[in-house]
Amino acid sequence: MSPQEKSPAPAVWTSLEGIAYGGDYNPEQWPVSVRMEDLELMKEAGVTFLSVGIFSWGLLEPSEGEYDFGWLDDVLDNLAAAGIKVALATATAAPPAWLVRKHPEILPVTADGTVLGPGSRRHYTPSSAVYRRYATGITRVLAERYKDHPALALWHVDNELGCHVSEFYGDEDAAAFRAWLERRYGSIDALNAAWGTAFWSQHYASFEEILPPRVAPSTLNPGQQLDFQRFNSWALMDYYGALLEVLREVTPGVPATTNLMVSSATKSMDYFEWAQDLDVIANDHYLVAADPERQIELAFSADLTRGVAGGDPWILMEHSTSAVNWQPRNQPKMPGEMLRNSLAHVARGADAVMFFQWRQSFAGSEKFHSAMVPHGGRDTRVWREVVELGASLKRLAPVRGSRVESRAAIVFDYEAWWASEIDSHPSQDVKYLDLMRAFHRSLFLRGISADFVHPTASLEGYGLVLVCTLYNVTDAAAANIASAARAGATVLVSYFSGIVDERDHIRLGGYPGAFRDLLGVTVEEFHPLLAGSTVKLSNGLSDGTGESPGDGWVGSVWSEHVRVVGASTDGPAEVLATFTEYPLDGVPALTRRPAGAGSAWYLATFPDQDGIEALVDRLLAESGVAAAAEADQGVELTRRRDADGRGFVFAINHSRADATVRVAGEELLSGERFAGTVPAGGVAVIAED
Ligand code: GLA
Repeated sequence: MSPQEKSPAPAVWTSLEGIAYGGDYNPEQWPVSVRMEDLELMKEAGVTFLSVGIFSWGLLEPSEGEYDFGWLDDVLDNLAAAGIKVALATATAAPPAWLVRKHPEILPVTADGTVLGPGSRRHYTPSSAVYRRYATGITRVLAERYKDHPALALWHVDNELGCHVSEFYGDEDAAAFRAWLERRYGSIDALNAAWGTAFWSQHYASFEEILPPRVAPSTLNPGQQLDFQRFNSWALMDYYGALLEVLREVTPGVPATTNLMVSSATKSMDYFEWAQDLDVIANDHYLVAADPERQIELAFSADLTRGVAGGDPWILMEHSTSAVNWQPRNQPKMPGEMLRNSLAHVARGADAVMFFQWRQSFAGSEKFHSAMVPHGGRDTRVWREVVELGASLKRLAPVRGSRVESRAAIVFDYEAWWASEIDSHPSQDVKYLDLMRAFHRSLFLRGISADFVHPTASLEGYGLVLVCTLYNVTDAAAANIASAARAGATVLVSYFSGIVDERDHIRLGGYPGAFRDLLGVTVEEFHPLLAGSTVKLSNGLSDGTGESPGDGWVGSVWSEHVRVVGASTDGPAEVLATFTEYPLDGVPALTRRPAGAGSAWYLATFPDQDGIEALVDRLLAESGVAAAAEADQGVELTRRRDADGRGFVFAINHSRADATVRVAGEELLSGERFAGTVPAGGVAVIAED
């Protein structure tokens, strides 16, 4: 079992069977004859679940107060008759033209004062009282109309909140920001103290004087910037909450969610915070076609989504069957890649696999975006793979509800992503995700899955805990991480962690203030490296056996003046590697100190590939964390385990050669005993004996 707490399954799962399958359905773009054909094709593909009405407001309410629900009634009735369940959207993700014409003040405003106009989508600001009135209005009308509809399984609130625009700088946003600050700080003195406004004459006499961090002559107050990120994330969630309130009132028994965009590219929303208001976590994920290791980014996104879900099963609400239309060059997926992608999400905790979109549009901006039913219709590779995927998912029904087993944790905090990348720092090359992704990649390639865990969430049961560039930490988070080490975990903390508190105030007395005692080191001065340059390290990972895991590896991005300090009952930190170049010759680059039943490691640079691998070897050896199974290179591995203790090993072969995997049990996709080989590009899901 995953060490995380198990929570009761939300109601959506009780109305869905097996691993749900489907996508966004936009029937309003098609004549009735095509909608009839859709029903046949959905049956052929094994579709069980669709998101409907996401961008339908303009047709449902073509002018203010005049509704046309006829087409949606028919669509929902037909889907219900076909046994297909629906995530019904609130239709609020694109305000209709009449509303913008009447109330242009709902439009979003950027940092330089540009008003973003209509003609695409998401052209509203979440703090607009007028927009909220209209959006809750259409939500109520929809909820009242369809509250007892047999197809309704889930509310799909708005769509990808924060997509396209996630920062709002208009006057109404400014007022909402001030109100949020007043609630957060209580008094203007507290705000002045938190923002350090004694600097550069930034003192405020009242909340009325405060503005969003609009375009300014130079760098803006970091406290103001950080709070504005918090505010925007909150404002979008607060808008979600306004719609949710209506849904809870009219349909108290129907669960609700909104589709997140958890990935290495979405920084603006604190999804750990958001998760509290979602009955089930739903995520959209799109591959970057040009990334040769896109399956690893997918795994990062899926693991982080599972982290946001607290380890519970989640819905893959959108991905693509093949090419998208919004990257510079939109490559199709390779044969079999869609199945590998879909099952990789399931391997990492998804219990529903859905696409944007069911039928490829013939007009509009997204007509070149792939779909389940391509322009070419049934006689296409994509359609055949869509049908094959539907059949495969049906066979994976036994996996549903099981949880991914991970003994490695990567601490993840959106606030640290925001704060660590604010301007005026020692180096613009310190990116929150870079080192974390290097470790995640190394674990991925070894068949080890990692859970992403919020710094204040329980770390109990994890053998290995990685803390990468966790620049800002609360006292509670620092204590939580320290107690994981004392309880027996191998904890590694990297450079630029624990530097400031939640107000972005330096923790004085020597870096890394929050972790100095745990690690037994102090840092006097940072020596960030120049662009593209490296620093040589002694190979200090020799474990006394005379074996050297790699000769003379190098660091990039960062170096610093580290000193070993303090002696507790646990003893001083041992220096495992040093910098070997002027001016840091002989200065510790990697240290390890016993901490209670575990250990606390400190890493003062970004090691090259060999260094990362040598380090991960040592961390795994010490912590006893191991792969889900023994397998050849190129095989992605995870294990899900159900409440009865049954294990399901997912083996996804990303290589072009057949691969051996050592697991004994029944292979669910074929229904046969697993013979030990996963064909090139293929997938095996083995229910263990
Ligand atoms: C997002 C949106 C969809 C669609 C896809 C295209 O995920 O939610 O409406 O635009 O992108 O990739």
